[in-house]
Amino acid sequence: MRTPQALVPYAVLLAAVAAGLLWQMGNNRPGVGQVVETGQAAVGGPFSLTDQYGHKKTDRDFAGRYLLIYFGYTNCPDVCPTTLSVIADAMDKIGNAGKAVVPIFITVDPDRDTPDVLKNYLSSFGPQFIGLTGPMANIAAVAKSYRVTFKKHDAVNGIYTVDHSNVIYLMGPDGHFIANYDETLGPDGLAVAIEKQLP
Ligand code: NI
Repeated sequence: MRTPQALVPYAVLLAAVAAGLLWQMGNNRPGVGQVVETGQAAVGGPFSLTDQYGHKKTDRDFAGRYLLIYFGYTNCPDVCPTTLSVIADAMDKIGNAGKAVVPIFITVDPDRDTPDVLKNYLSSFGPQFIGLTGPMANIAAVAKSYRVTFKKHDAVNGIYTVDHSNVIYLMGPDGHFIANYDETLGPDGLAVAIEKQLP
């Protein structure tokens, strides 16, 4: 037979459950520590980095231009060079209309990818490319704003690779996200997809 004392643990449990529910409700309320997304996905944000010519560049320097942004690193064995080739070929196919678009390569390996290294690397893909590097804290912040993740692997005999998200972002002249792609579209597919978004 239950005595009042025996009910105490149940009462405590119920109180804990109720408190948990209240806590959850509080945390799910919009505006309490959460980003509320309406319409377009919140991708992108301000940055302050250095280009391959050693000049400081911020997002404001590109205001009014379309940006094709890709994060990677110059020692990448496969997907980065493929992607940059696809972007370069797509830009060639778009031709004059493509002049409104700036392809930007942001390194996720700033320790190795100095401005000079970026300059040398990007010269293989065309003069229209802007390469950006900077302190790891700045790189990490801009990567986060683009929801790009990257992870440096332990070095073996001084050599290391960096896993990274593989996304080409098209950002509009107002700095807002328009669309994202990857290299599997090929130059023709990417050119068509970008042209659709241009005025
Ligand atoms: Ni890569």
